Amino acid sequence: MTWRATVLTLFPEMFPGTLGSSLAGKALADGKWALETIDIRDFATDKHRSVDDTPAGGGAGMVMRADIAAAAIDAARVNAAPGTPTLYLSPRGTPLTQDRVRTLAQAPGAILLCGRFEGIDQRVLDARNVEEVSIGDYVLSGGELAAQVLIDACVRLLPGVAGNEGSLAEESFASGLLEYPHYTRPREWEGRTIPDVLLSGDHRKIAEWRREQAEALTKTRRPDLWAKLKRK
Ligand code: ADE
Repeated sequence: MTWRATVLTLFPEMFPGTLGSSLAGKALADGKWALETIDIRDFATDKHRSVDDTPAGGGAGMVMRADIAAAAIDAARVNAAPGTPTLYLSPRGTPLTQDRVRTLAQAPGAILLCGRFEGIDQRVLDARNVEEVSIGDYVLSGGELAAQVLIDACVRLLPGVAGNEGSLAEESFASGLLEYPHYTRPREWEGRTIPDVLLSGDHRKIAEWRREQAEALTKTRRPDLWAKLKRK
């Protein structure tokens, strides 16, 4: 079965976007995953095709209506394989991690709801069992870029997409550590040399050096990841 991303958005022209190029783009063209966009505005019911309204209780901005978002979600679910999760991209969501990406890549696909206003009526998230997911502690102008980030992270893990399973196993987060530094020719560049151990041909020593580098990097840059690893 092909992993399928169904994106609910007011801006379907933003897709495939970055997902049309490089690794994900080639895999899409090769049919290794599928992308469908659903225009939320198609589910508007009034003559102005409005999808949002002013917030109950007052305040700034507009809120996406529950009835319209629900109709879009229900339409997406008609064609989705059983077990396909529905996620709402939002800075309030559970932070996306590589562990979660691995789980999502093993699901049949994902239905991704993108917001563009102050938010969405909470009732639709509750009634349709939609989980909020964030790609980081900053605010984007909409969920579309976040959806592309999530899809890219999943697609590269699909069987036959990356074509180099070894590098997947060694990359950052695979072992809970950040990845060690890389070098290639020339041996000397602007007076900087490649660490001797990497030219030694001693594979045990090289692996040891890489491990040390990965640990040192993780400790200094990501004390949060390091602490989690020590607790395991
Ligand atoms: N929409 C706006 N900001 C976002 C974020 N940080 N993560 C996911 N979706 C978002």
